Amino acid sequence: MIPPIVTSYATREKIQDRVESLFPTADKIPDAFRIQTPVNQRQYLIDGELRYWDGDVEEVISPIHIQTDEGLVPATVGYFPMLSEQESLEALNAAVAAYRRGRGLWPTMSVGQRIDRVQEFSCRMKEKRDEVVKLLMWEIGKSYKDSQKEFDRTVGYIEDTIAALKDLDRVSSRFEISEGVIGQIRRAPLGVVLCMGPSNYPLNETFTLLIPALIMGNTVVMKLPRPGVLPCAPLLEAFQQAFPPGVVNTVYGSGRVVTPPLMASGEVSAFAFIGSSRAANSLEKQHPKLNRLRTVYGLEAKNPAIILFDADLDLAVKECILGTLSYNGQRCTALKILFVHSQIVDAFLEKLSKEISNLVIGMPWDDGVTITPLPEAGKTEYFTDLVDDAIREGAYVVNSGGGTVNATFFYPAVVYPVTPAMRIYSEEQFGPVIPVVPYDDIETPINYIVNSNYGQQVSIFGQDTDTIAALIDPLVNQVCRVNINSQCQRGPDTFPFTGRKDSAEGTLSVSDALRSFSIRTLVAAKENHLNKSLITQIVKERKSNFLSTDFIL
Ligand code: G3H
Repeated sequence: MIPPIVTSYATREKIQDRVESLFPTADKIPDAFRIQTPVNQRQYLIDGELRYWDGDVEEVISPIHIQTDEGLVPATVGYFPMLSEQESLEALNAAVAAYRRGRGLWPTMSVGQRIDRVQEFSCRMKEKRDEVVKLLMWEIGKSYKDSQKEFDRTVGYIEDTIAALKDLDRVSSRFEISEGVIGQIRRAPLGVVLCMGPSNYPLNETFTLLIPALIMGNTVVMKLPRPGVLPCAPLLEAFQQAFPPGVVNTVYGSGRVVTPPLMASGEVSAFAFIGSSRAANSLEKQHPKLNRLRTVYGLEAKNPAIILFDADLDLAVKECILGTLSYNGQRCTALKILFVHSQIVDAFLEKLSKEISNLVIGMPWDDGVTITPLPEAGKTEYFTDLVDDAIREGAYVVNSGGGTVNATFFYPAVVYPVTPAMRIYSEEQFGPVIPVVPYDDIETPINYIVNSNYGQQVSIFGQDTDTIAALIDPLVNQVCRVNINSQCQRGPDTFPFTGRKDSAEGTLSVSDALRSFSIRTLVAAKENHLNKSLITQIVKERKSNFLSTDFIL
């Protein structure tokens, strides 16, 4: 196999120069994006109180480095509390007390009143947009545009959740009569929910768990991810002001210290987690009564793209760039391996490499930037190891400058031809390494998917209706979303987001999440004179929030 020639578009030296001069001197940071003083977050929310922490704190180091006379120095974004098991259990106790075994103010409140509180939170949240966006940029290196998108998508998700709950409530506000039994069926909360979102979407994905859990009447303990902890700091007051005491409680610190005691207490009724299956399984196991625990998980994935021999190459390359490199490939939904038909693989690699060389690399505030520094420690070393391993096994880095590193920055590397002997073939890289596997027989990518530990999504690129149709039917039983001539993605948020095997448990979407965080519950009565008059009176005099025909427009 001959490595394709792509160096004519951008020489390795030019890329190396761009990467070497990537980080700014302090005076080159635009005023609007400067962190004037590090955020010294000492507060945490328990039982409606913003408590002050004077114990150990952890420094939040930005992936953004500053050029100084002494060389590159990472910027400090701020500090956050390293709470102990004691504070974690206090947060749990506050949530347990607010739920009061289903008799608390929040779980018994009418749906309309809960919607009002969530709406109030959303209004207060919007006032903090600039602060949150800036912290996303500095703590996790997300571009300005994507950080704004993360914030606005979250606000949109809250609004859509309110609309979906109104719909659900309208449908449930009627009585059903069957076989001589009158019933009113609604959805009731589960109890205390432990919410843990991921570092790559610390605001959005945490809130896609938190908001539906709250609005359905559950009380919540929320553990913020590291990195990704500070963007929620400006919202603590909004939580405090919008919700009754104990309904939202926040926990910070080392996951190994603060989360196992929560699960071991047996008081958590639902565990909502986006992260690795290893962490999910190890925490879940701590719960003493697994039958009482509902789990809602978004886990790892290795979504493949299959580029058929008749694919529109310009379109396929455009979508594969988005799929592999949006937010540096740090998305659970990213395309993480590309199977390209051997008849077109050279042309595909040439176009892909050319497009990569045109991408803007730089700081999150740079106009049009796509590739930015990586927030997690050790990532550039890990990607270098993956690429070296592939090279040892016979692959090449196809694109000019691919794999060039500067501190926390890793220039995207297209690795080809990838074989099952290489780690990158099966490991979820979660970053800007793009493995390309040539194939002649369509069974090659299909077998890959069938035998994979993951089952989130796939993308198929091609133009022949028979071929595409023949792939759809077997693939929908392997993954949960088959994308045609489009990258893999979670959105739109009204669509179901889930996966098979080690990729997910439960389904999230605006409306599915409401179901995930609640249980169908009914009031039923045999249809006789006494029961009819009882129910009529309760409803007429609005004596119950549950047994009611009121609906919200
Ligand atoms: O990390 C996984 C996210 O859910 C991805 O969401 O596909 O909309 O970027 P997205």
